Amino acid sequence: MSESPSTTTTGGNVVITVRRAQAVDLDALLASDPHPELGLPARRLAEQEAGTGIYAVAEIDGEVVGSGFLDFIDEELNPELKNLWVPPAQRRHGVGTALWRWLEERAAEAGHQQVFLAVDPQNFRAIPLFLELGYSPTGDHLFMETPDSYQVLEPDQPSNYHAIYRKSLLAG
Ligand SMILES: CC(C)(COP(=O)(O)OP(=O)(O)OC[C@H]1O[C@@H](n2cnc3c(N)ncnc32)[C@H](O)[C@@H]1OP(=O)(O)O)[C@@H](O)C(=O)NCCC(=O)NCCS
Repeated sequence: MSESPSTTTTGGNVVITVRRAQAVDLDALLASDPHPELGLPARRLAEQEAGTGIYAVAEIDGEVVGSGFLDFIDEELNPELKNLWVPPAQRRHGVGTALWRWLEERAAEAGHQQVFLAVDPQNFRAIPLFLELGYSPTGDHLFMETPDSYQVLEPDQPSNYHAIYRKSLLAG
């Protein structure tokens, strides 16, 4: 597995570092996970180990404050950025932006010219972020048989209907 650099950004008055997740991060990732019963952090670490994805964590002052995943597996959405999560107390400091940009850089480094994501069409927090980062809706939608996230407006309901967004990684 090749090493990826960590990057540091300043969001307002906080310093955010993004790097690859490691096994030692598992407890911290589970502690801030709203649905630890899904076992997503361990799954993503295993996928990273197998080389089918890149798992990013963001830190502020050495504390894990968010995560996201770059998935190389899906045939149609390849690569797909997914599972972006920033705990409520850490939001609006630029952590989500820093994680997504770092994962986009990893996708470009791996030779990809575009990236995809699938988002709950009611996600009023994430969609403005994605638009600001340069994503556009493709008009396609995805129905997920085994959803690994929950709806934004009804948080106890699985989120199985997602809108697809795309971003070109080509300069200019
Ligand atoms: C979506 C999420 C990752 C954003 O993380 P974040 O660290 O707060 O994002 P940033 O601070 O980088 O926000 C960048 C921009 O996104 C937009 N944005 C973020 N949260 C927003 C909100 N609640 N309402 C409207 N716009 C929002 C704003 O344009 C913001 O810029 P600003 O703060 O200068 O106005 C976070 O709210 C989250 O974890 N939500 C739950 C999980 C989720 O929905 N993940 C996406 C699944 S596809």
